[in-house]
Amino acid sequence: MGEKHKVHFDPVDIEIEVDEEETVLDAAFRQGVMLMHGCRQGQCAACKAFLLDGDMEMDPFSTFALNETEEDEGFVLLCRSFAYSDLEVELIAYHEDMLEAGVPIQLVYAEVEEIEALTHDIKRLVLNLVDPPEMNFIPGQYAELYIPGTDEHRAYSMANTTSSDDRAEFIIKIYPGGRFSSLLDQDLKVGDKMTVKVPYGMFMLREKSEGDIVFVGGGSGMAPIWSILNHMAEKGIERKATYYYGARTRKDLFYLDELQELEERLPGFRFVPALSDPEPEEEWDGETGLITDVISRLEGDLTGTEAYLAGPPPMIDAAIPVLGTKGIDKDSVYYDKFTTTGEVEGSESKEESGPDFSGRAG
Ligand SMILES: Cc1cc2nc3c(=O)[nH]c(=O)nc-3n(C[C@H](O)[C@H](O)[C@H](O)COP(=O)(O)OP(=O)(O)OC[C@H]3O[C@@H](n4cnc5c(N)ncnc54)[C@H](O)[C@@H]3O)c2cc1C
Ligand code: FES
Repeated sequence: MGEKHKVHFDPVDIEIEVDEEETVLDAAFRQGVMLMHGCRQGQCAACKAFLLDGDMEMDPFSTFALNETEEDEGFVLLCRSFAYSDLEVELIAYHEDMLEAGVPIQLVYAEVEEIEALTHDIKRLVLNLVDPPEMNFIPGQYAELYIPGTDEHRAYSMANTTSSDDRAEFIIKIYPGGRFSSLLDQDLKVGDKMTVKVPYGMFMLREKSEGDIVFVGGGSGMAPIWSILNHMAEKGIERKATYYYGARTRKDLFYLDELQELEERLPGFRFVPALSDPEPEEEWDGETGLITDVISRLEGDLTGTEAYLAGPPPMIDAAIPVLGTKGIDKDSVYYDKFTTTGEVEGSESKEESGPDFSGRAG
């Protein structure tokens, strides 16, 4: 362990202690202070804050999360920041209800219980929790899954709800050459041991609100939305909700029957899948086109509606302005961009950072 310093957060007047060898964000988690965050890899900008005073350094990060001008002005990414003196930090975004919720991050030892192919490139992974035998999380949050035998981890959203907190279910896209996903695709088997760290993320239903909801998902972005929808069904939350889900072809769709069943359980819920590239021989009488075009076409004024988006960053970047033109306030848009969790490309130098991972999560 290194030298310890104090970090004081404005305007919320919370103080934590930070060791020189941990990031400010991790120190906050350790002390039950849930700061705004997303990827924890310097890619999404959700943890951006302003350094008012003190001496700190940052690990490499994507310039799309924090550009040079912002860095010069004093903005910092708390997931990359190490303190070398006491710090005074101004939080830009925070979730009042979560800030001192104190959900501790747990290290959980688990065993693979089931692996199921949902599509040609998406798999469902179910872990049975062994020690401790259950976990705390809020539907929509994510876990870090350690690649067995290494200290590398990948972010995956829980797809189950807290009614089954003795297991962790994930919906995982397989990337050719992806370290974890190809292991899942080819080698991982029932009974294998896994370690996960939970819970992370601020993507969760704002339950105090009664507003209508638009969900937007693509690919494995189904995972946190599936968890939130099932949570709504279990808790009888009957807010009007429409789920727009984009896929390329019919063979990229899954959970159609299950979503239809959810429509029956949740009277205000409607599922709208859309195919951007339907094959001529496929039978499809649903929506076609990019999911953003489908939203534009089908939705009218959405003033007062909340939006929850999860999946590929380009889909989220394209959907946010469309939702804005429909009247959704930008503070009512919450999203999880599924960025890569491996090393930031070109992370040797923060100038050579990866693709566009900019934005605010929550
Ligand atoms: C908060 C959060 C939640 C997430 N939840 C989920 C989830 O529920 N399900 C899920 O499938 N993914 C999710 N992701 C994305 C997932 O963490 C990454 O896709 C992961 O890095 C893939 O790991 P890998 O070891 O298979 O590939 P890596 O070894 O990390 O990457 C190898 C190569 O695969 C390609 N690749 C990997 N991931 C992506 C990506 N996301 N987009 C484009 N190309 C990629 C790239 O070419 C990359 O260079 C989430 C990410 C975040 C930040
Ligand atoms: S959480 Fe810090 S940049 Fe994503």
